[in-house]
Amino acid sequence: MTNRRHFIKQAAVLTSAFSAASLFNRVHAEEWSNAAKRIQHLTPAQAAQDEDFWTVIQQAYTVNPDLINLNNGGVSPSPLVVQQAVARYNDLANEGPSYYMWRILDQGREPLRRKLADLAGALPDEIAVNRNSTEALNTMIYGIPLAAGDEVIGTKQDYPHMIQAYNKLAIRNGIVYKQLSFEFPIEDDAQIVKAYEDAITPKTKLIHVTHMINWVGQIMPVRKIADMAHARGVEVLCDGAHSFGLLDFKIPDLHCDYFGTSLHKFLSAPIGSGMLWMKKEKIEKVWPMVCGDKPHDPDIRKFEDLGTRSFPIEQGIGEAINFHEGIGAKRKEERIRYLKNYWANKVKDIPNVKLHTSLRPEFSCAICGVSIDGMTPAELDNTLLGDYRIHTVGIVWENISCVRVTPHVYTRPKDLDLLASAIEQIAGKVKAKGTK
Ligand SMILES: Cc1ncc(COP(=O)(O)O)c(C=O)c1O
Repeated sequence: MTNRRHFIKQAAVLTSAFSAASLFNRVHAEEWSNAAKRIQHLTPAQAAQDEDFWTVIQQAYTVNPDLINLNNGGVSPSPLVVQQAVARYNDLANEGPSYYMWRILDQGREPLRRKLADLAGALPDEIAVNRNSTEALNTMIYGIPLAAGDEVIGTKQDYPHMIQAYNKLAIRNGIVYKQLSFEFPIEDDAQIVKAYEDAITPKTKLIHVTHMINWVGQIMPVRKIADMAHARGVEVLCDGAHSFGLLDFKIPDLHCDYFGTSLHKFLSAPIGSGMLWMKKEKIEKVWPMVCGDKPHDPDIRKFEDLGTRSFPIEQGIGEAINFHEGIGAKRKEERIRYLKNYWANKVKDIPNVKLHTSLRPEFSCAICGVSIDGMTPAELDNTLLGDYRIHTVGIVWENISCVRVTPHVYTRPKDLDLLASAIEQIAGKVKAKGTK
């Protein structure tokens, strides 16, 4: 009886992420709901500029004040409640890993699946929890039945891990991998959809589309591409590494067939957490990438046989969802878009500064590329870090050459003032040198 009670108590630790006893509820709920009440008359776009509200959110993170981190597109930090949840589960796991992980922590996966499904607007049986977008998308790239001669259409601006996977499939299985190339920014969805459409042949089986292009943040018209593709009998796989937890959408609204994402980007879930989604009727035909003695099982859980992995990280996702919902999805999207436009508008008219991203809301959010004539991305990235303690990332990829800047909800406008004045100073120095 005592053992049973002990077991139930331990198992309750897991489900508590979604109950009144969650860390989020205990630490933030009251203060945040008071802060939200104050701005409830504002639209999300108006609320994006209410600094008092966002100060409350910023305080929930533990980022180092000595470094202005503007590479949240790479990976985002978790707020303290998420870190504490992981630490707590980790302590528990280390009290006896095989017992606490496989018998106790494992109990938390189904509640987590349901919660992720709610967030995604999907059925729980369409969601598999894994470690990142690379794993989610590679699972589908290698798992969707494709035969020699079948064609896949992607772009040169997709993520390298996926490009590599298709190249490997071409070598190994004889598929034909075609890559479009776009000159971003593009403020015309029809142009993008037409480029994919023109590349379709009777052998095309799959289109791979990146929802938000990681290099420069272009938002791709996934739904329009999917509708066009389906009319031609072609399936669509969407790389949602950057969009999930940033843009306020439900996955089925994209009309794609398959979707993979990293939860450690804009959802701020623990580093090393991801998710895949596919239409229920597709599960049966897709081969799992690892294990799978019943490869054509229609159960989405066949994609979760990953061997021993970090259950504490997985369970920490729960508090990240609470945190995200506490802010409000649309409010968060608008705030991060506002922050991007805030600094970009300050530098866009400097003569030797170029932006590589549209500032129109339908085409971008969070990520914006910038370059200074006469400087390589690596030089600009190094100068921002060395002289101003601003961390960005230099991008040189195919036809793209810029520094990528990505704020998050914890970024303060005054950090972006520093960025804008740093860019102005650097651009001034480069210009002065050039005119000597
Ligand atoms: C568009 C895109 N897809 C996939 C990935 C891979 O993400 P992860 O490293 O979390 O697997 C990234 C990483 O930045 C990305 O930008």
